[in-house]
Formats: sequence, structure tokens, C-alpha cells
Amino acid sequence: MRIFDEIKEDHEKQRTLLSILTKTEGDSEGRRELFEKVKEELQNHAEAEEKHFYVPLIEADLTRDKSRHSIHEHHEIDEQLEKMENIDFSSSAWLPAVKKLQELVEHHLDEEEHEVFQMAGKVLSENKKDSLGKEFREMREELDS
Ligand SMILES: [Fe+2]
Ligand SMILES: [Fe+2]
Repeated sequence: MRIFDEIKEDHEKQRTLLSILTKTEGDSEGRRELFEKVKEELQNHAEAEEKHFYVPLIEADLTRDKSRHSIHEHHEIDEQLEKMENIDFSSSAWLPAVKKLQELVEHHLDEEEHEVFQMAGKVLSENKKDSLGKEFREMREELDS
């Protein structure tokens, strides 16, 4: 699969997990488990994406600034995850914090899918799109194991 399809597949998973997470209640096992899953999913995705998507894109003039912007957003998402580590699962501040996380992530995914993919399509050769897709998926499997 091309890199875009691999990334898109992860994004759909993130959207689904986050939407379920916003529907959990109080200090439940479901909420704890799901939060851990979301965190792992977001962090592993960003790590593989930076290495097998943004590194080659930073080398090209057309995609350099946009790539840096995306990586900056990865850091913002990470900071929000870190903040959430310090909020009690039963606190009334938890739901607003997860909504904020969802907002940051959804904005980021939409921007990647609508703006970054388009620019990257011009910069990467067809072969490169395929090889990056393969490398991305392999790294994800490694990180997940
Ligand atoms: Fe990203
Ligand atoms: Fe992404």
C-alpha cells in the first residue's frame, strides 16, 4: 500500500478510538484502558510518520515548512497527552481535556489528509510512495509488538 493509504488507515483508527474515549465515564477500567490505547496509538503513529514520511518531505523545498508545522503539531498533541496524565480519571476536568485532545488530533489529521498528502504527492515518486508505505507499516508493527 502507498504511504498515504497506510497513514489514512491509522487516522481512521485514531478517530474511532477518540470518539469512543469521549463517551467513557468516570474512573472506569474502560476509560483507563482506552486512554492507554489512544496514547500508544498516537505516539507510535507519530514516530513512524516522522521517520518514514516527514524525513523525506523535509528534504524537499515544497514540503519543508508544512512538514515542520506537522511535527510541531505532534509535539502539541504530546503535551496534551502529558497534561492528561496529571488529571484524575474521575475529575470533571478530564472530559474537557479529552475533547481538547480530540480537537487537536482531528485538526491535525484533516490537515495531513487534505494539505500534506497533496503536496507530498508531487514530491514523492510512485516507487517512493510504495517503499515508504512498507517501511511505515513495518515500523508500526515493530513499535506495537
Ligand atoms: Fe501526524
Ligand atoms: Fe498522521
